[in-house]
Amino acid sequence: MPVVTIDSVGQFAGQTVTINGWLYNLREAGKLLFPIFRDGTGTIQGVVSAKENSGAFEALKGLTQESSCIVTGRVNPDARAPGGFELHVETIDVVQRIPDSDPYPIQLKEHGPDFLLENRHLWMRTPRQAAILRIRAQVVHATRNYLDAHGYVLTDAPMFTPAACEGTSTLFEVDYFDEGKAYLTQSGQLYIEATAASLGRVYCFGPVFRAEKSKTRRHLTEFWMCEPEVAYAGLEDIMVLGEHLVSHIVQDVVAHRARELEVVGRDVSKLAAVCPPFPRISYDEAIAVLQKSGKDVKWGDDFGGDEETVLSSQYDRPVIVHHYPAAIKAFYMQPDAERPDRALSFDMLAPEGYGEIIGGSQRIHDYNLLLERIRQHGLSEKAFQWYLDLRRYGSVPHSGFGLGIERTVAWICGTTHIREVIPFPRMLYRIYP
Ligand code: 4AD
Ligand code: MG
Repeated sequence: MPVVTIDSVGQFAGQTVTINGWLYNLREAGKLLFPIFRDGTGTIQGVVSAKENSGAFEALKGLTQESSCIVTGRVNPDARAPGGFELHVETIDVVQRIPDSDPYPIQLKEHGPDFLLENRHLWMRTPRQAAILRIRAQVVHATRNYLDAHGYVLTDAPMFTPAACEGTSTLFEVDYFDEGKAYLTQSGQLYIEATAASLGRVYCFGPVFRAEKSKTRRHLTEFWMCEPEVAYAGLEDIMVLGEHLVSHIVQDVVAHRARELEVVGRDVSKLAAVCPPFPRISYDEAIAVLQKSGKDVKWGDDFGGDEETVLSSQYDRPVIVHHYPAAIKAFYMQPDAERPDRALSFDMLAPEGYGEIIGGSQRIHDYNLLLERIRQHGLSEKAFQWYLDLRRYGSVPHSGFGLGIERTVAWICGTTHIREVIPFPRMLYRIYP
């Protein structure tokens, strides 16, 4: 018997196949049993009749939820069945029966978020969570594919770093042998500025760490970021890359993960609209929009989740906000030549209130200006010698950004909280399991 996955049973209509899976649910109706099996690629309803098949009926009757089992049966087209096929069960081999005395903790009913997070290792088996993890994998795949296909070279950045990249207030400190303190990286950017000067167009893609004291639905302490960096590129070039990359990711998920988007209940028509060009507004314009809508903000303020939601809710696709005040942005950002109080920076805000998914900028390429900024920000000159070297030897204007993978996946899936879109979330109050 061919061993098949549930997502491919349509190719075996009328044939007898074997599925390696788990019992997701069981409905008993007298002499008929209606099990639902899952195998990680989907779910399929089966039917077993006591009269026709007493062996399978006895093996399945009373079988507990999430018991592992190998099922063999005939694939019957059935318009009423979810997925369009039903499995006419012939034999069932129970691999592990979960005893009635210690049932699977997650029943098919509503559970609170704390309970589910405490049981994340089991919660991820539910069809919705499995669909989200598949969409996440597709987002990662699409991100890499796009950059690989457009001449960007993957150059990995280190996780242990001697200095801060995104401000000193969110650093995780570790003891690093005789070298003293090291920090978990907040961003690979500084390192890929070096690889960009070596290779031209590069990116890094890995976990980054922020000791964020924020307990919001958008913040993790460990998250994944994809960061492209381009030599001889300015703010405009990098904004264009951002909108093309994001629309490619969204359209790739729509094309390849339709079933999963349906499982998570996503309105796909909203995603279909996500194609370039994205609307753009300057920070100055954004302030005016916010003031008009009654928000108490003035020029120079940073935006929080509320402000981002007001701004992004005006559009059906992500909006790019550019030229933020230099004072609220990172030390390495190139000032605008005409108005040095503004940085050549941009954030991309996802629609539907999902907030900032990209932060990026043109980088300072002048040695003296960068040194001045390092001093102003109270950063260690010694730790940044190598970074300053990039401005001593063949410096060029260059730009890049960071795309937050979880924020992007949360938006594409339409989840209310970012904790659902990473296999094991790390947050202010959670490090288990
Ligand atoms: O805006 P950020 O801090 O930018 C940087 O780190 C730059 N060095 C990137 C670069 O230019 N190469 O972070 C980039 C993105 C944000 O737009 C957001 O999507 C995500 O990372 N992000 C977070 N995601 C989850 N939890 C957090 N605590 C996050 N902080 C930032
Ligand atoms: Mg940012």
